[in-house]
Amino acid sequence: NRVVLAYSGGLDTSVILKWLQQTYGCEVVTFTADLGQGEELEPARAKAVLMGVKPEHIFIEDLREEFVRDYIFPMMRANALYEGLYLLGTSIARPLIAKKQIEIAKKVGADAVSHGATGKGNDQVRFELGYYALAPDIRIIAPWREWDLNSREQLIAFAEAHQIPVSKDKRGESPFSTDANLLHTSSEGKVLEDPWNEVPDYVYSRTNSPEDAPDVAQYITMDFEAGDPVAVDGEPLSPANLLAKLNELGKLHGIGRLDLVENRFVGMKSRGMYETPGGTILHLAHRGIEQITLDRGAAHLKDELAPKYAQLLYNGFWFSPEREMLQAAIDHSQAKVSGTVRLKLYKGSVSVVGRKSPNSLYSANIVTFEDDAGAYDQRDAEGFIKLNALRLRLLGRRDGK
Ligand code: ARG
Ligand code: SIN
Repeated sequence: NRVVLAYSGGLDTSVILKWLQQTYGCEVVTFTADLGQGEELEPARAKAVLMGVKPEHIFIEDLREEFVRDYIFPMMRANALYEGLYLLGTSIARPLIAKKQIEIAKKVGADAVSHGATGKGNDQVRFELGYYALAPDIRIIAPWREWDLNSREQLIAFAEAHQIPVSKDKRGESPFSTDANLLHTSSEGKVLEDPWNEVPDYVYSRTNSPEDAPDVAQYITMDFEAGDPVAVDGEPLSPANLLAKLNELGKLHGIGRLDLVENRFVGMKSRGMYETPGGTILHLAHRGIEQITLDRGAAHLKDELAPKYAQLLYNGFWFSPEREMLQAAIDHSQAKVSGTVRLKLYKGSVSVVGRKSPNSLYSANIVTFEDDAGAYDQRDAEGFIKLNALRLRLLGRRDGK
């Protein structure tokens, strides 16, 4: 029996690796994904070798382009925000990791998969709904729900007893539970557990504080094609390179910090801090280009679907027929969402300051407060308003307001 473990090379998943070998006497296959978390992945290989994983059972894959092109961009087309604010940076990564784990399990003939998410959170649900959707009979091992290592100290003691290297920062106050990829870095736990306490500076890892950001605003342009960004300042970039570029700009200007208390799928409230520099710029820019290219009916329907779409992602239902139905409708709406947005980045904020498109529905001719040369007949508005007012007038007569 073989198990494919989603392995980051960090303390938790290293302990899990050893624990799986000991508890189940099974052969562990590791899968480490480069999702743009900005960490070297070769140390993960070295650690896995050290713990007796066969070299041919160590899988390390660069998934950055696939992650941005096939997961982040489709989500951005939807303008998805969970509870109005969270850009879903962790939620969107889990389905891709689950999918790759299952592919590897099939390749190496493993009958089980394992992950390092706790029994209290959303990630366990996202991983496992993905596993079950893609391999209905797979066996799942979730060590956090089974073992009796109930604190960081016990984890470190286990690691030390088994010669697993523990980095210094894992011993101190700093790391809570963090998760990073090209879209965001999230932090939860420890000092953040009191929602009244402001997030201390040392928790931020990938944005300047707005106070320290440049005093001069920076203007950029972004080009869109069919709802996806394709260039920054006129330079065409691949999906991952484009998001990396926006991350640099967002970092410099202190954009995309979010302190949030959210409702987890399992029912508890949790306080987290998110840094989503490039994603925050992209989200607003996409809305900017939609403003001139989407019809009102399509735009308003999208706005109704977006919270539903976000909830599905947050709760782990990426591989569900209802998410695919929404995606089809959203993608259909994006055919004409092409053009250029001009943005201003300044001290923690991003604003759309200009937009243009060959597909624009905006008509200066019609909207102008100046002479419109007969483009719009103001007399039409009288009947429009009168019929809309009809039921209000009937009510007003009856109720005497
Ligand atoms: N609360 C966020 C979410 O549910 C972030 C979860 C972070 N996960 C982690 N393993 N640190 O999407
Ligand atoms: C975890 O429980 O492993 C992290 C938090 C979450 O998944 O919500």
